[in-house]
Amino acid sequence: MLATNAVTKISDANSELNRRVALLDETLLENERSGEALQDSEKRYRRLFESAKDGILILEADTGKIVDVNPFLLHLLGYSYEAVHGRRIWELGAFKDIAASKDAFKTLQDNDYIRYEDLPLETIGGQPIAVEFVSNVYLVDQTKVIQCNIRDITARKHAEDKQMESYRKIRELNRRLAEMEEAEKRNLAAILHDDFGQNLTSLSMSLNLTKLQLNGQTEEKTVSRLDDALSMVERLGDQLHTIISDLRPTVLDNFGIFAALKWYGQQCKLRTGVDVVISGEKLENRWPLQTEIIIYRIIQEAVNNSIKHADTSCVELSVSKGKMVRFTITDKGKGFDIDKKKINFDGRLCLGLAIMQERAESIEGSLTVKSATGKGTKIILEVPI
Ligand SMILES: Nc1ncnc2c1ncn2[C@@H]1O[C@H](COP(=O)(O)OP(=O)(O)O)[C@@H](O)[C@H]1O
Ligand SMILES: [Mg+2]
Repeated sequence: MLATNAVTKISDANSELNRRVALLDETLLENERSGEALQDSEKRYRRLFESAKDGILILEADTGKIVDVNPFLLHLLGYSYEAVHGRRIWELGAFKDIAASKDAFKTLQDNDYIRYEDLPLETIGGQPIAVEFVSNVYLVDQTKVIQCNIRDITARKHAEDKQMESYRKIRELNRRLAEMEEAEKRNLAAILHDDFGQNLTSLSMSLNLTKLQLNGQTEEKTVSRLDDALSMVERLGDQLHTIISDLRPTVLDNFGIFAALKWYGQQCKLRTGVDVVISGEKLENRWPLQTEIIIYRIIQEAVNNSIKHADTSCVELSVSKGKMVRFTITDKGKGFDIDKKKINFDGRLCLGLAIMQERAESIEGSLTVKSATGKGTKIILEVPI
């Protein structure tokens, strides 16, 4: 009986042992499998790192030491792995702008995420390149690392620079065009005044003289024709005066911008029926005439826009003086969606509005356009005194 018990116990212990061995085998197998899986995933990440078409740089966050760098970045900057690995980021000429000092590096250490849209780097040969630089700080086995992703944007920047250069040229052309237009208007005004105006005055004098020389026997028909001709000459004189003033507002030359704007407002009312109400500072100071002409043309375009597009019967124009002189042109008309009116260059507005903006900048001033559909339009022109 004792022997039977002993055999049973041994057999139980044996099967327990077998069970444990099987369990151990299974655990070992499991570990082996997860080890392989880990290796697989490491390999996959390594492949991504090696073949990425962006530069990747891994730094030790405490020391700034470069612990890893991918081939793309080495190729981009022209360094060998050995030349980079283990160095501090600020020791590499390529990064002198981001990591010139430990202070700059501290910014990377202190921020979990940083993005520089356009950072200048340099290849080992001194060739400048522009990059987008993103850094992320995270923990690997309780050690803080900084991962920097670096994208070469040199080609894109070149294209943008070229585009900006052509916008600049277009703006310069616009400015010259506006200047030429102004000179041409002045020319035409002078010709109309000196030639047409003089001849019209002579004609009027001759007609008046002829009328004086008529005697009582002249037919009534002839007298009335002469009167018709005289009043026609007078009307022509008025029309000529209006055209000349449009081309070259003499009131601007003689009395300055406030008077000229007032006169222009009256002209608008006469021609279109729209009230142009002017209020505010009379402006004793004068700018050089060329500047005043530019201010006048900008405001003229703003008022014209309100009359032409806003569908309103009143435009307000106010003048105030602080550090700058501010002209505000307001209508309560139908307004417009500024974003939709933006043309594709430089975020600038449509040609009329763009020219206003450029003219304002050409006299060191600024132009702000505020408008929304159904909410009217406000144009603010600020000019230094
Ligand atoms: N005061 C305004 N009220 C409503 N719409 C306006 C006003 N000013 C400008 N706009 C809109 O913006 C556009 C661009 O103006 P602008 O550049 O001066 O060009 P243009 O007057 O030659 O059409 C206008 O065609 C019009 O649709
Ligand atoms: Mg316009």
